[in-house]
Amino acid sequence: MTVIRAAVVQTDPRFGEVETNIAAALAAVPGDADLAVLPELFATGYQFRSRDELASLAEPIPDGPTCRALADHAAATDTTLVAGLAERDGDRLYNSAVLVRPDGSIERFRKVHLFWDEKLVFDAGDLGFPVFEACGTTVGLMVCFDWLFPEATGSLARRGARIIAHPSNLVLSHCPDAMPVRALENRVFTLTANRVGTEHRTGTELRFIGRSTICSPRFEVLGQASPLGAETVTAGLDLDLCDPWLSPRNHVIEDRRPDQYLI
Ligand code: ACM
Repeated sequence: MTVIRAAVVQTDPRFGEVETNIAAALAAVPGDADLAVLPELFATGYQFRSRDELASLAEPIPDGPTCRALADHAAATDTTLVAGLAERDGDRLYNSAVLVRPDGSIERFRKVHLFWDEKLVFDAGDLGFPVFEACGTTVGLMVCFDWLFPEATGSLARRGARIIAHPSNLVLSHCPDAMPVRALENRVFTLTANRVGTEHRTGTELRFIGRSTICSPRFEVLGQASPLGAETVTAGLDLDLCDPWLSPRNHVIEDRRPDQYLI
């Protein structure tokens, strides 16, 4: 039996206070975690007034200060970290997530399904849904609203993910209740790290719903944070439960019937 000690770190960031937000998030990572997931855009905050403002806070990956802070922490604590951050690549701007291993290596994902006003400032992701070897298993990445599209989690599962790390800034209420289904239908663990608090920097006030959630391949909620306040939730993930055989005659990937679906 291989058990991964996992954590989702629910934060309460202040827009633009990058150093403070990074320090608070990293201080909340449990020292004994093998894998810890931080929210979407955890260092900057979420609601950018313009593409120019986003460009001024976005960073290159892997050479920006947020990646450096994550890599230093990963090395010092022997923890693999997944976190969402604003990425600048030339004149392109992505709502990205990184996976940072204790050896300093850094992988990246760019959010595919942009939510609401994100479409005004970010470019949509162009790297598909990647799966990486990390902390002795396989970890797939997606960001927040990607959860709504079963193709996202399904692609990660078919690429071999046993754990889906899901940095989020949720404002709609449905995701925490839906993630057990995503976990069951793909027989993976899901780690949704959300934030709390409000932002009202444009005409729209956003209230982030908290409820960061860890789900098992058996449709169980292994841990869930409250809707209010910074909080870290942990769970041991028994990787033997990531068994695609749902019954002796049902394999959740091989039983798919793409010839019968409208794609
Ligand atoms: C979201 O995708 N941040 C709702």
